[in-house]
Amino acid sequence: MLTWDEEVKPSQPSNFARTTQPAAPLTQDNASLEIRTLDDGARVAAAVSTPAYTSPIKPLLKEAARRVSAADKRIINGQTDVNQLVPFKYKWAWEKYLASCANHWMPQEVNMTRDIALWKTPGGLTEDERRIVKRNLGFFVTADSLAANNIVLGTYRHITAPECRQFLLRQAFEEAIHTHAYQYIVESLGLDEGEIFNAYNEVQSIRDKDQFLIPFIEAIMDPNFHTGTLQTDQTLLKSLIVFACLMEGLFFYVGFTQILALGRQNKMTGAAEQYQYILRDESMHCNFGIDLINQLKAENPQLWTPEFKAEIKALFERATELEYRYAEDTMPRGVLGMNASMFKGYLRYIANRRATQIGLEPLFPNEENPFPWMSEMIDLKKERNFFETRVIEYQSGGALSWD
Ligand SMILES: [Fe+2]
Ligand SMILES: [Fe+2]
Repeated sequence: MLTWDEEVKPSQPSNFARTTQPAAPLTQDNASLEIRTLDDGARVAAAVSTPAYTSPIKPLLKEAARRVSAADKRIINGQTDVNQLVPFKYKWAWEKYLASCANHWMPQEVNMTRDIALWKTPGGLTEDERRIVKRNLGFFVTADSLAANNIVLGTYRHITAPECRQFLLRQAFEEAIHTHAYQYIVESLGLDEGEIFNAYNEVQSIRDKDQFLIPFIEAIMDPNFHTGTLQTDQTLLKSLIVFACLMEGLFFYVGFTQILALGRQNKMTGAAEQYQYILRDESMHCNFGIDLINQLKAENPQLWTPEFKAEIKALFERATELEYRYAEDTMPRGVLGMNASMFKGYLRYIANRRATQIGLEPLFPNEENPFPWMSEMIDLKKERNFFETRVIEYQSGGALSWD
C-alpha cells in the first residue's frame, strides 16, 4: 500500500526536471498531485497543473467554512454548501426520497414464465398485441436511458438544494432499474435485441418523440451551460418542465396503458407487473419534478413571463400531438377494447392535469379520463399486486401520501 510517508518522497525540482517541465505553482485553482517514477526508479509525488476547475460546487466550497442556514438554500444558483444535507429546507424532496427507497424493487424478482409461454404459443397473442409489446419496448429501452443521462449529466449539476440532489440520485438509479426491466423482458421473450434497442432510430413515431426531447436534454448537458442569467435559468426551467411533465408525465402513458391493459386481460402478466412498478416510480418522479418546478418558480418569479408561458403551452401541444401519433402507430386498429382515438382524449386529459399542476391554464378544457382504472394502477398500496403473479408487499416503510 502506497503511503505518503513511507514510499513516496516529495518531488525535488532537480530530479523532476529530468522527465517533465517544472510543475505549475500549487494553487487552489490549478493544482493536483500525480505519482511519477523517475529514471532511477524513485517514486515521487509531483504537483501538476490541470485545466481550470469548473465544478459547480466550487463557489459553494468557499462558503463551506460557515454553517448552513436552511433559509439560505435555493433550488438553483444557491450559495450554500451542497454537501450539507441538513438542516432541511425542502422536506417534500426528502420525504419523496424516503418513499422511493421504501418502494424498492428489482426486475428479476418478477416471474416471467407465463409471459414466455404465451409469447411462444402460436396464436397466444394477436399480431396487433405483439406489435404493442414490441413498439412499447422499442420506446422504453432507450427512453429511460435518456432519462438517466438527463439527470446525471444535466439536471443534477444545476440543482443546488442537497435534498433535491438526494432524490435525483435515487431517481437516476430507478431509471437504471427501469432500463434493466425492459432489457429483462426483451431477453425473457427472446426478442431481436438489435430491432428493439435501435427502434428509436428506425421507428418514426418513436424517433419523433425522442427528437422532440433531445434539444432540451442537450441544452443543460452542455459543459458550457450555467444557470445564473434570466435566459439560462429559463432554459433550465423549460428543460425541467419538458422532462417531468411531457416525457415522464405524458410520453410514457400510451405505453403504460397498453401493457397494463394486456395484464388486465390476463396476458403478459409478468411484464404488466413490472410496468405497474415502473408506473408507480414514474408517478413519483413526475410529482417530484412538479414540486421542483413550482419551488423554482416561487424562488424566481421573474422567469414566468407571458412569453415563456406561451412557449411552454406550445410545447405541451406539440408533445400531445406526438404522443397521439405514437398511439396511432402502435394501434392501427382497435385492440384490447382500446383504440387510438380514445387516447386523444386521455392524452388531453393528462396534458391538462400537468399544465394545471405547474400553474398554467388547462389546454383542452372539459376532457375526461377514458381510463379511470389507470389511477388505481398507480396506487399500489391499495391494490398491492394487481396481477396476482405473487403475493408481496413492496412497501417496506414510509407512506404514499400524495395523489
Ligand atoms: Fe423510468
Ligand atoms: Fe423517471
